[in-house]
Amino acid sequence: MVTEVLEKVLIEALDAYILETVKVVKSNRPDLCDYQFDGAFQLAKLYKKSPMEIAEEISCVLRESSYFKKVEAVTPGFINMTLSDSFMNQILRDMKKFPKFNLPQVEPTLTYVIDYGGPNIAKPLHVGHLRPAIVGESIKRIIAYVGHKVIGDVHFGDFGLQIGEVIYGMQKEHISVEDVTLEDLNRLYPEISALCKEDEVVKETCENITKELQDGSLEYERYYRKIFDLSKKDIVRIYKYLDVDFDLWYGEMDSRAFIPLVEKILVEKSLAYISEGALVVDVTEETDKKEIPPLIFKKRNNGYLYGSTDMATIYQREKDFHPDYILYVADLRQSLHFNQVFRASLKAGITDAQLEHIGFGTINGNDGKPYKTRSGKTPKLDALFKEVEELFVESKETNKDMSEEDKKRIVNSILKFADLQNNREKDYIFDGKKFSDVVGKTGPYVLYTYLRIKRILELEEYKENGLSDTIYNEYDRNLRLQLLDFHKDVLGAFHLRLPSVIASYIYDLCVCLNTFYQNNHVSKLEDETKKQDWLFVLALAKDVLKELLNLLGIEIPSMM
Ligand code: ARG
Repeated sequence: MVTEVLEKVLIEALDAYILETVKVVKSNRPDLCDYQFDGAFQLAKLYKKSPMEIAEEISCVLRESSYFKKVEAVTPGFINMTLSDSFMNQILRDMKKFPKFNLPQVEPTLTYVIDYGGPNIAKPLHVGHLRPAIVGESIKRIIAYVGHKVIGDVHFGDFGLQIGEVIYGMQKEHISVEDVTLEDLNRLYPEISALCKEDEVVKETCENITKELQDGSLEYERYYRKIFDLSKKDIVRIYKYLDVDFDLWYGEMDSRAFIPLVEKILVEKSLAYISEGALVVDVTEETDKKEIPPLIFKKRNNGYLYGSTDMATIYQREKDFHPDYILYVADLRQSLHFNQVFRASLKAGITDAQLEHIGFGTINGNDGKPYKTRSGKTPKLDALFKEVEELFVESKETNKDMSEEDKKRIVNSILKFADLQNNREKDYIFDGKKFSDVVGKTGPYVLYTYLRIKRILELEEYKENGLSDTIYNEYDRNLRLQLLDFHKDVLGAFHLRLPSVIASYIYDLCVCLNTFYQNNHVSKLEDETKKQDWLFVLALAKDVLKELLNLLGIEIPSMM
Protein backbone atom coordinates (compact mmCIF):
# COMPACT_ATOMS: atom_id res chain seq x y z
CA MET A 1 0.00 0.00 0.00
CA VAL A 2 1.47 3.35 -1.01
CA THR A 3 0.81 5.19 2.24
CA GLU A 4 2.33 2.34 4.24
CA VAL A 5 5.48 2.32 2.12
CA LEU A 6 5.79 6.10 2.42
CA GLU A 7 5.28 5.94 6.17
CA LYS A 8 8.21 3.52 6.43
CA VAL A 9 10.38 5.90 4.43
CA LEU A 10 9.34 8.74 6.70
CA ILE A 11 10.06 6.83 9.89
CA GLU A 12 13.59 6.34 8.61
CA ALA A 13 13.88 9.98 7.60
CA LEU A 14 12.73 11.14 11.04
CA ASP A 15 15.91 9.52 12.36
CA ALA A 16 16.50 11.12 15.77
CA TYR A 17 12.94 12.37 16.12
CA ILE A 18 10.36 10.10 17.67
CA LEU A 19 6.70 10.42 16.79
CA GLU A 20 4.07 8.04 18.14
CA THR A 21 2.20 7.67 14.85
CA VAL A 22 3.59 8.62 11.49
CA LYS A 23 0.75 9.26 9.10
CA VAL A 24 1.01 10.02 5.39
CA VAL A 25 -2.20 11.05 3.63
CA LYS A 26 -3.34 11.75 0.10
CA SER A 27 -2.84 15.40 -0.69
CA ASN A 28 -5.85 17.68 -0.45
CA ARG A 29 -4.19 19.82 -3.13
CA PRO A 30 -3.55 17.35 -5.96
CA ASP A 31 -2.40 20.27 -8.10
CA LEU A 32 0.58 20.72 -5.76
CA CYS A 33 1.58 17.19 -4.78
CA ASP A 34 0.41 13.58 -4.44
CA TYR A 35 0.85 12.89 -0.72
CA GLN A 36 1.55 14.97 2.35
CA PHE A 37 2.96 14.64 5.84
CA ASP A 38 1.92 17.11 8.54
CA GLY A 39 3.83 15.64 11.48
CA ALA A 40 6.32 18.53 11.69
CA PHE A 41 3.82 20.52 13.77
CA GLN A 42 3.65 17.88 16.44
CA LEU A 43 7.42 17.39 16.40
CA ALA A 44 7.93 21.12 16.72
CA LYS A 45 6.06 21.12 20.02
CA LEU A 46 7.90 18.05 21.30
CA TYR A 47 11.36 19.26 20.33
CA LYS A 48 10.86 23.01 20.79
CA LYS A 49 11.83 23.94 17.25
CA SER A 50 9.95 25.67 14.47
CA PRO A 51 7.80 23.37 12.31
CA MET A 52 9.36 24.79 9.17
CA GLU A 53 12.85 24.00 10.37
CA ILE A 54 11.88 20.38 11.01
CA ALA A 55 10.00 20.11 7.73
CA GLU A 56 13.08 21.34 5.87
CA GLU A 57 15.31 18.89 7.69
CA ILE A 58 13.08 15.88 6.92
CA SER A 59 12.55 16.97 3.33
CA CYS A 60 16.29 17.03 2.78
CA VAL A 61 16.51 13.38 3.76
CA LEU A 62 13.43 12.41 1.75
CA ARG A 63 14.92 13.92 -1.40
CA GLU A 64 17.55 11.18 -1.32
CA SER A 65 14.87 8.53 -1.84
CA SER A 66 14.14 7.19 -5.31
CA TYR A 67 10.44 7.14 -4.44
CA PHE A 68 10.05 10.86 -5.03
CA LYS A 69 10.24 13.15 -7.98
CA LYS A 70 9.87 16.19 -5.74
CA VAL A 71 9.73 16.87 -1.99
CA GLU A 72 8.92 20.34 -0.70
CA ALA A 73 8.74 21.87 2.74
CA VAL A 74 6.00 24.46 2.61
CA THR A 75 5.24 27.19 5.16
CA PRO A 76 4.27 26.92 7.91
CA GLY A 77 5.60 23.32 8.02
CA PHE A 78 3.91 20.94 5.61
CA ILE A 79 5.83 18.38 3.61
CA ASN A 80 4.53 17.88 0.08
CA MET A 81 5.58 14.78 -1.78
CA THR A 82 5.33 13.99 -5.48
CA LEU A 83 5.98 10.38 -6.41
CA SER A 84 8.63 9.39 -8.92
CA ASP A 85 7.59 7.62 -12.11
CA SER A 86 9.72 4.60 -11.26
CA PHE A 87 8.10 4.16 -7.85
CA MET A 88 4.59 4.49 -9.27
CA ASN A 89 5.31 2.01 -12.01
CA GLN A 90 6.84 -0.51 -9.63
CA ILE A 91 3.59 -0.56 -7.66
CA LEU A 92 1.56 -0.98 -10.84
CA ARG A 93 3.75 -3.90 -11.95
CA ASP A 94 3.19 -5.58 -8.58
CA MET A 95 -0.55 -4.97 -8.84
CA LYS A 96 -0.57 -6.72 -12.17
CA LYS A 97 1.60 -9.58 -10.98
CA PHE A 98 0.17 -10.60 -7.63
CA PRO A 99 -3.27 -11.93 -6.73
CA LYS A 100 -5.90 -9.37 -5.73
CA PHE A 101 -3.70 -6.62 -7.13
CA ASN A 102 -1.25 -7.18 -4.30
CA LEU A 103 -3.73 -6.33 -1.57
CA PRO A 104 -2.08 -6.93 1.83
CA GLN A 105 -3.39 -10.08 3.48
CA VAL A 106 -5.39 -9.64 6.72
CA GLU A 107 -3.96 -11.29 9.82
CA PRO A 108 -5.46 -13.23 11.47
CA THR A 109 -8.34 -14.57 9.43
CA LEU A 110 -11.54 -14.03 11.38
CA THR A 111 -15.04 -15.44 11.07
CA TYR A 112 -17.88 -13.06 10.29
CA VAL A 113 -21.57 -13.87 10.27
CA ILE A 114 -23.50 -11.29 8.29
CA ASP A 115 -27.25 -11.10 8.73
CA TYR A 116 -28.83 -9.22 5.83
CA GLY A 117 -31.82 -9.24 3.54
CA GLY A 118 -34.24 -9.96 6.39
CA PRO A 119 -37.31 -10.54 4.21
CA ASN A 120 -40.53 -11.50 5.88
CA ILE A 121 -42.33 -14.71 4.99
CA ALA A 122 -45.85 -14.19 3.63
CA LYS A 123 -45.22 -10.57 2.64
CA PRO A 124 -44.07 -9.66 -0.88
CA LEU A 125 -40.70 -7.90 -1.16
CA HIS A 126 -41.00 -4.16 -1.72
CA VAL A 127 -38.67 -1.25 -2.29
CA GLY A 128 -37.76 -1.22 1.42
CA HIS A 129 -36.05 -4.59 0.98
CA LEU A 130 -33.69 -3.34 -1.68
CA ARG A 131 -31.10 -1.73 0.57
CA PRO A 132 -30.59 -4.57 3.06
CA ALA A 133 -30.07 -6.91 0.11
CA ILE A 134 -27.77 -4.66 -1.93
CA VAL A 135 -25.74 -3.19 0.92
CA GLY A 136 -25.47 -6.54 2.72
CA GLU A 137 -24.36 -8.47 -0.34
CA SER A 138 -21.68 -5.90 -1.05
CA ILE A 139 -20.34 -5.84 2.50
CA LYS A 140 -20.27 -9.63 2.52
CA ARG A 141 -18.22 -9.68 -0.69
CA ILE A 142 -15.82 -7.02 0.61
CA ILE A 143 -15.19 -8.97 3.83
CA ALA A 144 -14.47 -12.14 1.86
CA TYR A 145 -12.24 -10.24 -0.55
CA VAL A 146 -9.94 -8.85 2.13
CA GLY A 147 -9.49 -12.43 3.29
CA HIS A 148 -11.85 -13.18 6.16
CA LYS A 149 -14.27 -16.05 6.42
CA VAL A 150 -17.83 -14.83 6.04
CA ILE A 151 -21.17 -16.56 6.39
CA GLY A 152 -24.24 -14.80 5.01
CA ASP A 153 -27.59 -15.55 6.65
CA VAL A 154 -30.89 -14.28 5.22
CA HIS A 155 -32.66 -14.46 8.59
CA PHE A 156 -36.26 -14.71 7.39
CA GLY A 157 -38.89 -12.98 9.47
CA ASP A 158 -41.14 -15.99 9.98
CA PHE A 159 -42.09 -15.83 13.64
CA GLY A 160 -44.42 -12.88 13.66
CA LEU A 161 -48.10 -12.07 13.52
CA GLN A 162 -48.22 -12.11 9.70
CA ILE A 163 -48.04 -15.91 9.76
CA GLY A 164 -50.98 -16.15 12.15
CA GLU A 165 -52.90 -13.72 9.98
CA VAL A 166 -52.40 -15.72 6.81
CA ILE A 167 -53.34 -18.99 8.55
CA TYR A 168 -56.47 -17.31 9.88
CA GLY A 169 -57.32 -16.07 6.36
CA MET A 170 -56.85 -19.52 4.86
CA GLN A 171 -59.13 -21.08 7.46
CA LYS A 172 -61.73 -18.37 7.04
CA GLU A 173 -61.83 -18.88 3.28
CA HIS A 174 -61.54 -22.68 3.52
CA ILE A 175 -58.32 -22.74 1.51
CA SER A 176 -56.53 -26.01 2.22
CA VAL A 177 -52.81 -26.38 2.81
CA GLU A 178 -52.64 -28.44 -0.40
CA ASP A 179 -54.36 -25.84 -2.58
CA VAL A 180 -53.02 -22.52 -1.29
CA THR A 181 -51.07 -20.44 -3.84
CA LEU A 182 -48.65 -17.52 -3.72
CA GLU A 183 -51.42 -15.27 -5.05
CA ASP A 184 -53.58 -16.31 -2.08
CA LEU A 185 -50.80 -15.29 0.31
CA ASN A 186 -50.21 -11.96 -1.39
CA ARG A 187 -53.91 -11.21 -1.20
CA LEU A 188 -54.60 -12.57 2.32
CA TYR A 189 -51.80 -10.82 4.19
CA PRO A 190 -52.87 -7.21 3.49
CA GLU A 191 -56.55 -8.14 3.80
CA ILE A 192 -56.36 -9.79 7.22
CA SER A 193 -53.77 -7.38 8.51
CA ALA A 194 -56.20 -4.52 7.75
CA LEU A 195 -59.01 -6.47 9.39
CA CYS A 196 -56.91 -6.94 12.54
CA LYS A 197 -56.62 -3.18 12.86
CA GLU A 198 -60.42 -2.86 12.93
CA ASP A 199 -61.45 -5.99 14.77
CA GLU A 200 -60.01 -6.81 18.20
CA VAL A 201 -61.44 -10.34 18.19
CA VAL A 202 -59.82 -11.23 14.86
CA LYS A 203 -56.54 -9.76 16.06
CA GLU A 204 -56.62 -11.85 19.22
CA THR A 205 -57.41 -14.98 17.22
CA CYS A 206 -54.46 -14.30 14.91
CA GLU A 207 -52.20 -13.71 17.91
CA ASN A 208 -53.27 -16.98 19.45
CA ILE A 209 -52.60 -18.88 16.24
CA THR A 210 -49.13 -17.32 16.11
CA LYS A 211 -48.51 -18.22 19.72
CA GLU A 212 -49.63 -21.85 19.23
CA LEU A 213 -47.39 -22.14 16.20
CA GLN A 214 -44.45 -20.80 18.22
CA ASP A 215 -45.23 -23.36 20.92
CA GLY A 216 -45.03 -26.19 18.40
CA SER A 217 -48.63 -26.91 17.32
CA LEU A 218 -48.32 -29.63 14.66
CA GLU A 219 -51.46 -28.53 12.83
CA TYR A 220 -50.26 -24.93 12.42
CA GLU A 221 -46.78 -26.17 11.63
CA ARG A 222 -48.30 -27.82 8.51
CA TYR A 223 -49.69 -24.47 7.41
CA TYR A 224 -46.50 -22.69 8.26
CA ARG A 225 -44.35 -25.13 6.23
CA LYS A 226 -46.44 -24.57 3.13
CA ILE A 227 -46.58 -20.79 3.54
CA PHE A 228 -42.82 -20.75 4.13
CA ASP A 229 -42.06 -22.84 1.05
CA LEU A 230 -44.25 -20.80 -1.29
CA SER A 231 -43.01 -17.50 -0.01
CA LYS A 232 -39.36 -18.53 0.12
CA LYS A 233 -39.47 -19.70 -3.48
CA ASP A 234 -40.63 -16.28 -4.61
CA ILE A 235 -38.08 -14.45 -2.44
CA VAL A 236 -35.26 -16.63 -3.82
CA ARG A 237 -36.37 -15.75 -7.36
CA ILE A 238 -36.06 -12.05 -6.61
CA TYR A 239 -32.68 -12.41 -4.89
CA LYS A 240 -31.49 -14.42 -7.86
CA TYR A 241 -32.44 -11.53 -10.10
CA LEU A 242 -30.42 -9.25 -7.82
CA ASP A 243 -27.44 -11.65 -7.71
CA VAL A 244 -27.84 -11.86 -3.97
CA ASP A 245 -27.11 -15.24 -2.43
CA PHE A 246 -26.86 -16.66 1.06
CA ASP A 247 -24.93 -19.46 2.74
CA LEU A 248 -27.73 -19.94 5.25
CA TRP A 249 -31.41 -19.56 4.51
CA TYR A 250 -32.36 -19.70 8.18
CA GLY A 251 -35.24 -17.88 9.77
CA GLU A 252 -36.37 -16.75 13.19
CA MET A 253 -38.20 -20.08 13.54
CA ASP A 254 -34.88 -21.94 13.37
CA SER A 255 -33.88 -20.27 16.61
CA ARG A 256 -37.00 -21.52 18.40
CA ALA A 257 -35.20 -24.44 20.08
CA PHE A 258 -32.71 -22.05 21.69
CA ILE A 259 -35.21 -19.65 23.22
CA PRO A 260 -35.74 -21.74 26.39
CA LEU A 261 -31.98 -22.12 26.79
CA VAL A 262 -31.43 -18.38 26.64
CA GLU A 263 -34.38 -17.81 28.96
CA LYS A 264 -32.86 -20.24 31.48
CA ILE A 265 -29.55 -18.37 31.43
CA LEU A 266 -31.31 -15.03 31.90
CA VAL A 267 -33.27 -16.34 34.87
CA GLU A 268 -30.37 -18.23 36.47
CA LYS A 269 -28.10 -15.23 36.25
CA SER A 270 -30.92 -13.07 37.67
CA LEU A 271 -30.80 -10.81 34.64
CA ALA A 272 -34.50 -11.16 33.86
CA TYR A 273 -37.39 -10.16 36.07
CA ILE A 274 -41.16 -9.92 35.83
CA SER A 275 -42.58 -6.52 35.04
CA GLU A 276 -46.30 -6.06 34.41
CA GLY A 277 -46.58 -9.78 33.73
CA ALA A 278 -43.81 -9.83 31.13
CA LEU A 279 -40.28 -11.22 31.52
CA VAL A 280 -37.85 -8.39 30.83
CA VAL A 281 -34.10 -7.75 30.89
CA ASP A 282 -32.73 -4.48 32.18
CA VAL A 283 -30.08 -3.19 29.75
CA THR A 284 -29.30 0.26 31.09
CA GLU A 285 -25.71 1.35 31.55
CA GLU A 286 -24.39 4.06 33.83
CA THR A 287 -23.09 6.19 31.00
CA ASP A 288 -26.44 6.31 29.15
CA LYS A 289 -27.51 9.81 28.24
CA LYS A 290 -30.92 8.62 27.03
CA GLU A 291 -33.14 6.11 28.74
CA ILE A 292 -32.87 2.64 27.19
CA PRO A 293 -36.03 0.64 28.01
CA PRO A 294 -35.68 -3.00 29.05
CA LEU A 295 -35.75 -5.76 26.44
CA ILE A 296 -39.01 -7.72 26.62
CA PHE A 297 -38.07 -11.37 26.40
CA LYS A 298 -41.46 -12.99 27.05
CA LYS A 299 -44.85 -11.35 26.78
CA ARG A 300 -47.59 -11.54 29.36
CA ASN A 301 -49.35 -14.22 27.22
CA ASN A 302 -46.06 -16.19 27.23
CA GLY A 303 -45.41 -15.35 23.58
CA TYR A 304 -41.91 -14.50 22.42
CA LEU A 305 -40.83 -11.48 20.43
CA TYR A 306 -38.32 -10.09 17.92
CA GLY A 307 -35.74 -9.61 20.69
CA SER A 308 -36.15 -13.18 21.95
CA THR A 309 -35.52 -14.74 18.54
CA ASP A 310 -32.59 -12.42 17.93
CA MET A 311 -30.98 -13.48 21.22
CA ALA A 312 -31.70 -17.14 20.51
CA THR A 313 -30.16 -16.73 17.06
CA ILE A 314 -27.00 -15.28 18.60
CA TYR A 315 -26.85 -18.34 20.87
CA GLN A 316 -27.27 -20.58 17.82
CA ARG A 317 -24.60 -18.76 15.78
CA GLU A 318 -22.14 -18.93 18.67
CA LYS A 319 -22.72 -22.69 18.95
CA ASP A 320 -22.45 -23.32 15.21
CA PHE A 321 -19.64 -21.00 14.14
CA HIS A 322 -17.92 -19.27 17.12
CA PRO A 323 -17.90 -16.08 15.06
CA ASP A 324 -15.58 -13.16 15.84
CA TYR A 325 -18.14 -10.73 14.46
CA ILE A 326 -21.88 -10.77 13.86
CA LEU A 327 -23.04 -7.95 11.61
CA TYR A 328 -26.66 -6.93 11.13
CA VAL A 329 -27.49 -5.00 8.00
CA ALA A 330 -30.83 -3.51 8.98
CA ASP A 331 -32.76 -0.24 8.90
CA LEU A 332 -31.29 2.50 11.10
CA ARG A 333 -34.69 2.86 12.74
CA GLN A 334 -34.08 -0.49 14.43
CA SER A 335 -31.04 0.76 16.32
CA LEU A 336 -32.76 0.72 19.71
CA HIS A 337 -33.78 -2.90 19.16
CA PHE A 338 -30.23 -3.93 18.32
CA ASN A 339 -28.80 -1.97 21.18
CA GLN A 340 -31.11 -3.84 23.59
CA VAL A 341 -30.36 -7.23 22.04
CA PHE A 342 -26.58 -6.65 22.03
CA ARG A 343 -26.47 -5.48 25.62
CA ALA A 344 -28.69 -8.28 26.87
CA SER A 345 -26.60 -10.87 25.00
CA LEU A 346 -23.33 -9.57 26.37
CA LYS A 347 -24.74 -9.50 29.89
CA ALA A 348 -25.98 -13.05 29.49
CA GLY A 349 -22.58 -14.05 28.12
CA ILE A 350 -24.08 -16.03 25.26
CA THR A 351 -21.43 -14.88 22.77
CA ASP A 352 -17.88 -13.52 22.59
CA ALA A 353 -18.47 -12.05 19.15
CA GLN A 354 -18.42 -8.34 18.42
CA LEU A 355 -21.98 -7.37 17.55
CA GLU A 356 -22.48 -4.56 15.06
CA HIS A 357 -25.58 -2.96 13.63
CA ILE A 358 -24.84 -1.78 10.09
CA GLY A 359 -27.68 0.71 9.70
CA PHE A 360 -29.04 2.21 6.50
CA GLY A 361 -31.42 5.04 5.60
CA THR A 362 -34.49 5.03 3.35
CA ILE A 363 -34.98 5.32 -0.39
CA ASN A 364 -37.13 8.37 -1.06
CA GLY A 365 -39.00 9.77 -4.03
CA ASN A 366 -38.57 13.26 -5.45
CA ASP A 367 -40.92 14.59 -2.77
CA GLY A 368 -38.51 13.46 -0.05
CA LYS A 369 -40.97 10.82 1.19
CA PRO A 370 -40.49 7.02 0.89
CA TYR A 371 -40.38 6.06 -2.77
CA LYS A 372 -43.65 5.38 -4.64
CA THR A 373 -44.32 4.13 -8.20
CA ARG A 374 -45.83 6.25 -10.95
CA SER A 375 -49.20 4.94 -9.78
CA GLY A 376 -48.56 6.10 -6.22
CA LYS A 377 -47.99 2.75 -4.46
CA THR A 378 -45.05 1.47 -2.49
CA PRO A 379 -43.61 -0.59 -5.31
CA LYS A 380 -43.15 -4.32 -5.06
CA LEU A 381 -39.64 -5.15 -6.20
CA ASP A 382 -40.88 -6.85 -9.37
CA ALA A 383 -42.64 -3.65 -10.40
CA LEU A 384 -39.57 -1.56 -9.63
CA PHE A 385 -37.33 -3.77 -11.79
CA LYS A 386 -39.79 -3.43 -14.62
CA GLU A 387 -40.06 0.34 -14.25
CA VAL A 388 -36.27 0.76 -14.33
CA GLU A 389 -35.89 -1.56 -17.30
CA GLU A 390 -38.48 0.47 -19.23
CA LEU A 391 -36.70 3.72 -18.43
CA PHE A 392 -33.43 2.31 -19.72
CA VAL A 393 -35.00 0.85 -22.85
CA GLU A 394 -36.77 4.14 -23.58
CA SER A 395 -33.52 6.11 -23.22
CA LYS A 396 -31.98 4.80 -26.48
CA GLU A 397 -33.48 3.23 -29.60
CA THR A 398 -31.11 0.23 -29.75
CA ASN A 399 -31.49 -0.70 -26.07
CA LYS A 400 -34.60 -2.73 -26.78
CA ASP A 401 -32.57 -5.22 -28.82
CA MET A 402 -30.38 -6.22 -25.89
CA SER A 403 -30.64 -9.73 -24.49
CA GLU A 404 -32.78 -10.28 -21.38
CA GLU A 405 -29.66 -11.25 -19.44
CA ASP A 406 -27.92 -7.99 -20.39
CA LYS A 407 -30.98 -5.94 -19.52
CA LYS A 408 -31.09 -7.59 -16.13
CA ARG A 409 -27.41 -6.75 -15.57
CA ILE A 410 -28.05 -3.14 -16.47
CA VAL A 411 -31.10 -2.84 -14.21
CA ASN A 412 -28.93 -4.23 -11.43
CA SER A 413 -26.17 -1.74 -12.16
CA ILE A 414 -28.67 1.13 -12.11
CA LEU A 415 -30.20 0.13 -8.80
CA LYS A 416 -26.96 -0.84 -7.11
CA PHE A 417 -24.76 2.02 -8.24
CA ALA A 418 -27.49 4.51 -7.33
CA ASP A 419 -27.67 2.99 -3.88
CA LEU A 420 -24.07 2.16 -3.06
CA GLN A 421 -22.61 5.53 -4.05
CA ASN A 422 -24.33 6.99 -0.97
CA ASN A 423 -23.05 6.60 2.52
CA ARG A 424 -25.42 3.84 3.66
CA GLU A 425 -26.64 5.82 6.64
CA LYS A 426 -28.04 8.57 4.43
CA ASP A 427 -31.49 8.58 2.85
CA TYR A 428 -31.38 9.17 -0.87
CA ILE A 429 -33.79 10.20 -3.58
CA PHE A 430 -34.42 7.59 -6.23
CA ASP A 431 -34.62 9.26 -9.62
CA GLY A 432 -35.00 6.45 -12.15
CA LYS A 433 -34.43 8.66 -15.15
CA LYS A 434 -31.25 10.19 -13.82
CA PHE A 435 -29.87 6.85 -12.59
CA SER A 436 -30.45 5.07 -15.90
CA ASP A 437 -28.63 7.70 -17.98
CA VAL A 438 -25.20 6.78 -19.43
CA VAL A 439 -23.97 10.24 -18.49
CA GLY A 440 -23.37 11.05 -14.82
CA LYS A 441 -22.62 9.06 -11.70
CA THR A 442 -24.56 6.02 -12.81
CA GLY A 443 -24.29 2.28 -13.34
CA PRO A 444 -24.63 2.59 -17.13
CA TYR A 445 -21.82 5.20 -17.24
CA VAL A 446 -19.48 2.86 -15.40
CA LEU A 447 -20.41 -0.17 -17.49
CA TYR A 448 -20.07 1.81 -20.67
CA THR A 449 -16.58 2.95 -19.65
CA TYR A 450 -15.58 -0.61 -18.90
CA LEU A 451 -16.82 -1.90 -22.25
CA ARG A 452 -15.07 0.90 -24.12
CA ILE A 453 -11.69 0.01 -22.54
CA LYS A 454 -12.31 -3.65 -23.20
CA ARG A 455 -12.92 -2.83 -26.86
CA ILE A 456 -9.65 -0.87 -27.17
CA LEU A 457 -7.74 -3.80 -25.71
CA GLU A 458 -9.39 -6.17 -28.15
CA LEU A 459 -8.64 -3.98 -31.17
CA GLU A 460 -5.04 -3.24 -30.27
CA GLU A 461 -2.48 -5.92 -29.83
CA TYR A 462 -1.62 -5.94 -26.15
CA LYS A 463 1.44 -8.10 -25.55
CA GLU A 464 1.61 -8.20 -21.72
CA ASN A 465 5.39 -7.75 -21.72
CA GLY A 466 5.70 -5.31 -18.89
CA LEU A 467 5.80 -1.63 -18.24
CA SER A 468 8.65 0.81 -18.86
CA ASP A 469 9.58 3.51 -16.35
CA THR A 470 8.05 6.42 -18.23
CA ILE A 471 4.81 8.26 -17.59
CA TYR A 472 3.85 10.28 -20.65
CA ASN A 473 1.49 13.08 -19.69
CA GLU A 474 -0.85 14.32 -16.97
CA TYR A 475 -3.88 12.25 -18.09
CA ASP A 476 -1.70 9.19 -18.02
CA ARG A 477 -0.27 10.13 -14.63
CA ASN A 478 -3.70 10.83 -13.09
CA LEU A 479 -4.95 7.44 -14.17
CA ARG A 480 -1.92 5.68 -12.69
CA LEU A 481 -2.20 7.67 -9.49
CA GLN A 482 -5.84 6.66 -9.15
CA LEU A 483 -4.90 2.99 -9.55
CA LEU A 484 -2.50 3.37 -6.62
CA ASP A 485 -5.44 4.15 -4.32
CA PHE A 486 -6.92 0.70 -4.81
CA HIS A 487 -5.59 -0.85 -1.59
CA LYS A 488 -6.40 2.10 0.61
CA ASP A 489 -9.99 2.28 -0.60
CA VAL A 490 -10.73 -1.45 -0.49
CA LEU A 491 -9.44 -1.65 3.07
CA GLY A 492 -11.24 1.59 3.94
CA ALA A 493 -14.53 0.18 2.66
CA PHE A 494 -13.94 -2.94 4.73
CA HIS A 495 -13.07 -1.17 8.00
CA LEU A 496 -15.91 1.33 7.73
CA ARG A 497 -18.37 -1.21 6.28
CA LEU A 498 -18.96 1.35 3.56
CA PRO A 499 -19.35 0.12 -0.02
CA SER A 500 -19.67 3.80 -0.96
CA VAL A 501 -15.88 4.12 -0.64
CA ILE A 502 -15.53 1.59 -3.43
CA ALA A 503 -18.32 3.15 -5.49
CA SER A 504 -16.60 6.51 -5.43
CA TYR A 505 -13.26 4.92 -6.29
CA ILE A 506 -14.96 3.29 -9.28
CA TYR A 507 -16.47 6.56 -10.41
CA ASP A 508 -13.16 8.42 -10.10
CA LEU A 509 -11.38 5.67 -12.00
CA CYS A 510 -13.94 5.92 -14.79
CA VAL A 511 -13.51 9.69 -14.99
CA CYS A 512 -9.72 9.20 -15.26
CA LEU A 513 -10.21 6.53 -17.92
CA ASN A 514 -12.50 8.68 -20.01
CA THR A 515 -10.20 11.70 -19.85
CA PHE A 516 -7.27 9.47 -20.70
CA TYR A 517 -9.12 8.03 -23.66
CA GLN A 518 -10.26 11.41 -24.99
CA ASN A 519 -6.76 12.87 -24.88
CA ASN A 520 -4.51 9.91 -25.62
CA HIS A 521 -5.20 8.13 -28.88
CA VAL A 522 -3.70 4.72 -28.37
CA SER A 523 -4.59 3.41 -31.80
CA LYS A 524 -2.64 6.11 -33.64
CA LEU A 525 0.60 5.55 -31.75
CA GLU A 526 3.70 4.52 -33.65
CA ASP A 527 5.98 4.33 -30.63
CA GLU A 528 5.52 0.67 -29.70
CA THR A 529 6.87 1.01 -26.13
CA LYS A 530 4.50 3.83 -25.38
CA LYS A 531 1.60 1.93 -26.87
CA GLN A 532 2.33 -1.20 -24.83
CA ASP A 533 2.76 0.90 -21.68
CA TRP A 534 -0.64 2.44 -22.18
CA LEU A 535 -2.24 -0.87 -22.95
CA PHE A 536 -0.68 -2.23 -19.75
CA VAL A 537 -2.23 0.57 -17.71
CA LEU A 538 -5.60 0.21 -19.44
CA ALA A 539 -5.62 -3.56 -18.97
CA LEU A 540 -4.84 -3.15 -15.29
CA ALA A 541 -7.55 -0.50 -14.90
CA LYS A 542 -10.05 -2.73 -16.65
CA ASP A 543 -9.28 -5.68 -14.35
CA VAL A 544 -9.47 -3.49 -11.25
CA LEU A 545 -12.79 -2.08 -12.43
CA LYS A 546 -14.26 -5.51 -13.00
CA GLU A 547 -13.12 -6.79 -9.61
CA LEU A 548 -14.55 -3.77 -7.79
CA LEU A 549 -17.84 -3.90 -9.67
CA ASN A 550 -18.08 -7.47 -8.52
CA LEU A 551 -17.64 -6.29 -4.92
CA LEU A 552 -20.70 -4.09 -5.44
CA GLY A 553 -22.57 -7.06 -6.92
CA ILE A 554 -22.60 -5.54 -10.42
CA GLU A 555 -22.10 -7.81 -13.41
CA ILE A 556 -20.92 -6.65 -16.81
CA PRO A 557 -23.21 -6.98 -19.85
CA SER A 558 -21.81 -8.42 -23.06
CA MET A 559 -22.47 -5.16 -24.90
CA MET A 560 -24.22 -1.82 -24.60
N1 ARG B 1 -37.20 -8.96 9.20
C1 ARG B 1 -36.76 -7.72 9.74
C2 ARG B 1 -37.55 -6.56 9.14
O1 ARG B 1 -38.25 -6.72 8.16
C3 ARG B 1 -35.28 -7.48 9.52
C4 ARG B 1 -34.39 -8.51 10.17
C5 ARG B 1 -33.01 -7.99 10.51
N2 ARG B 1 -32.20 -9.00 11.18
C6 ARG B 1 -32.32 -9.36 12.44
N3 ARG B 1 -31.60 -10.35 12.90
N4 ARG B 1 -33.14 -8.74 13.27
O2 ARG B 1 -37.48 -5.47 9.66
